[in-house]
Amino acid sequence: MLDAADTLDWAAFQAARQRYFDRLAADSALVRLELAGRLPAAEPSARAERDLPGGPGRARAKRLGRARRPAVGSPGPPIGEGTVAVHRVKKTDEAQATDDVYAATDPGRSVPKYRIPEEEWDSPHAHRLVRDELLVEGNSRLNLATFTQTWLDPEVVMLMGETYDKNMIDKDEYPRTAELELRCVNILADLWNAPDAEDAVGTSTTGSSEACMLGGMALQRRWRARRHEQGRPADRPNIVMGANVQVCWHKFARYWDVEQRLVPMAGERYVMSAEEAVARCDENTIGVVGILGSTFTGEYERIAEMAEALDDLQERTGLDVPIHVDAASGGFVAPFIQPQPAWDFRLPRVKSINASGHKYGLAPLGVGWVVWRDAAELPEELIFRVNYLGGEMPTFAINFSRPGSQIVAQYYNFVRLGREGYRKVQQTAQDVALHLADEIEAGGPFRMLARGTDLPVVCWTLDGDANFTLFELSDALRQHGWQVPAYTMPPERTDLAVCRIVVRHGLSLDLSNLLLEDLRTVLDRFGAEPGRRPSEIAVSGFSHA
Ligand SMILES: Cc1ncc(COP(=O)(O)O)c(C=O)c1O
Repeated sequence: MLDAADTLDWAAFQAARQRYFDRLAADSALVRLELAGRLPAAEPSARAERDLPGGPGRARAKRLGRARRPAVGSPGPPIGEGTVAVHRVKKTDEAQATDDVYAATDPGRSVPKYRIPEEEWDSPHAHRLVRDELLVEGNSRLNLATFTQTWLDPEVVMLMGETYDKNMIDKDEYPRTAELELRCVNILADLWNAPDAEDAVGTSTTGSSEACMLGGMALQRRWRARRHEQGRPADRPNIVMGANVQVCWHKFARYWDVEQRLVPMAGERYVMSAEEAVARCDENTIGVVGILGSTFTGEYERIAEMAEALDDLQERTGLDVPIHVDAASGGFVAPFIQPQPAWDFRLPRVKSINASGHKYGLAPLGVGWVVWRDAAELPEELIFRVNYLGGEMPTFAINFSRPGSQIVAQYYNFVRLGREGYRKVQQTAQDVALHLADEIEAGGPFRMLARGTDLPVVCWTLDGDANFTLFELSDALRQHGWQVPAYTMPPERTDLAVCRIVVRHGLSLDLSNLLLEDLRTVLDRFGAEPGRRPSEIAVSGFSHA
């Protein structure tokens, strides 16, 4: 909470900032006119005087600026006449192609798009230009395609601003940030029922993708070490997972030369089953990846069943295949609203778990986590030691420099919300998802594939004949500002197109009703178009993140 003194300071800071921007704007108008030869250049001391608060500069600059500034939209002074405004290149020169970039209050100036300008520009104009450039993007709160967090506590925004300069890798310089990271690892190990959470082994990452890479690397190294101990070849590792894995697992397999054994979807089964997983395991299997919250439908894979089937495999054949749980989204949902069945370290076969802090962990974009059940699961050779308070701090990561802010914000969320707060947030998301599922199902020719009972994700397909495709529906909703992706499923169900809504903190019941209203409008419009037929073009620009 801000107290009165903070509020006053903040107001004073904003006023000072505005004065500074006004002064820069006035000064830049003068500089342009001077360089264009329309004003005698000011002596440095005169410029400095103008810059003084209340000095003559502002009034003069405003007066002259208004009188002489080219009309909005006019091309400005000709090139080569000493103006700072122009960095145009020949339009035919594709290598340097630079269309004019319009900057809100400085229309005479253009800057190159694809090379760094020769001269500097004042910060308010550059800021406006960049901000304007981003104006046409979608509204992230209405982006129902993403699992990542788009609503933040104002306090998180403040903390981010206060800590953006801390490099989390500099453990020696920022020992308290390092301490908060350690606490987060302990908190997650406890949340996921590690046998000895106080002695947990884990790390923050940039997101689940990096966390999955680390989890996969540890599996590979452990398998290789076992094979070497047995005097057996270790050159043909494979990993077993569903075709519904997120792209990061395909990357892992390709980057680290591991064969992917993918369980395809079949019929109405959109996740990997335990039997199908076990059927693909052999002595070269480094592990099985179970997903707590499929990216495609939000459905939880049955991790306990997988563990049981792998126990059985071990009894029958001696093969001991570990499980890594990719709980990118579910790791922050299941513990709060679906405590059963066990999917985490309660199952001895689960050796490591990852989750995205920036998804249902409610932290800002840029943080993920991976935790191992105990130190024995993380091969020592993967750990690097960095200097920490004169001692040594073990780190295991692909990245080096990274902001500490997201880690700090993650810790803030744990302290601020506690188990009770997380439960309320996730339960609300699930309630909204269930509501949306009921209304969508009742409102159109749709069949639900997921209603939000696992992750708060709603996924549906067309049921029977319709005079539109889901891609057209997605497009039409976009015209109302909503981003609801339409896409086809992975092998062997690429014939199946679906729409998906990820319900997150910030999509209130109220907002979801607005979405439903717009959905009704779109469906009515399709219904009122005589002779309308579904388009044959199926295009989707959405990625599964
Ligand atoms: C199951 C799963 N794993 C991994 C990822 C990658 O996560 P991140 O975007 O945090 O790197 C995602 C992203 O949607 C996911 O759904």
